[in-house]
Amino acid sequence: MSILEVKGVSKYFGGLAALSNLNLTIQEGEIRGIIGPNGAGKTTLFNVISGVYRPTSGQIFYMMGKRIDGLASSRIAKMGLVRTFQRTALYHNFTVLRNVTVARHLHAKENIFGVFTGMVKKMEEENVKKALEIVEFMGLGRLKNELASNLPHGYQRALGIAIALACEPRVLLLDEPLTGMTPTEKAQMIDLIRKVHQQGITILMVEHDMKSVMELCNYISVLDFGKLLVEGPPAEIQNDEAVITAYLGTEDITSPGGEKVAT
Ligand SMILES: Nc1ncnc2c1ncn2[C@@H]1O[C@H](COP(=O)(O)OP(=O)(O)O)[C@@H](O)[C@H]1O
Ligand SMILES: [Mg+2]
Repeated sequence: MSILEVKGVSKYFGGLAALSNLNLTIQEGEIRGIIGPNGAGKTTLFNVISGVYRPTSGQIFYMMGKRIDGLASSRIAKMGLVRTFQRTALYHNFTVLRNVTVARHLHAKENIFGVFTGMVKKMEEENVKKALEIVEFMGLGRLKNELASNLPHGYQRALGIAIALACEPRVLLLDEPLTGMTPTEKAQMIDLIRKVHQQGITILMVEHDMKSVMELCNYISVLDFGKLLVEGPPAEIQNDEAVITAYLGTEDITSPGGEKVAT
């Protein structure tokens, strides 16, 4: 069953087509990789899917054909389609646990009658309990009382995902989750992404690190100049002439580290 369908979507910034008549179908349970040179439209794709931008034309369907293009991003997040950002979006003066608790608050469908029935305190306790579970799940338990600003980069990115998990996603959009990480941090993040996926969450991932993309993703869509260049399983993409050509002038797509491809 397809959980997300992007149909003929274009997004113009002035005269520039950041996305041009793009079609994508994501099946539930995938880890889909979205790759392509800088400026290909990958972040714009995440922005139109998550409701940050309204597409100039085209349609986006989520779960059982519900149309979501043009809906507010908070509404889309409530439906379980949640994104992380290319850079961290944390409250730097809050602790790790507070960041996740606040994210749950912002997301919660709190109801006014709670005020009268004394449910608020109970809901607050429940929120903190759930937030703590997420913090521990993401390997941040030991750091729960640290200020977000004091965390090493790798843990800040893990916290970014914890904040997204606070919204109880069914589909998670990760924008460059491995950027700027040391090899050790990358290996840990890859494990975490797998763990999140094993919870039954469908993942769409934009990432430049080819080695990791090939390792993690079951299927890869390649964007170039806002268009779908090609898609297929990692082994096919790695050897695709058009993909190699799109990356020429930057670095060989199959290079061992892969980090420097199209940064
Ligand atoms: N808010 C914006 N205003 C104007 N141009 C934008 C905006 N966002 C993206 N673009 C342009 O759209 C194109 C695609 O950008 P982006 O989606 O960020 O690419 P990628 O994430 O693949 O590097 C680029 O040419 C970029 O300059
Ligand atoms: Mg980008």
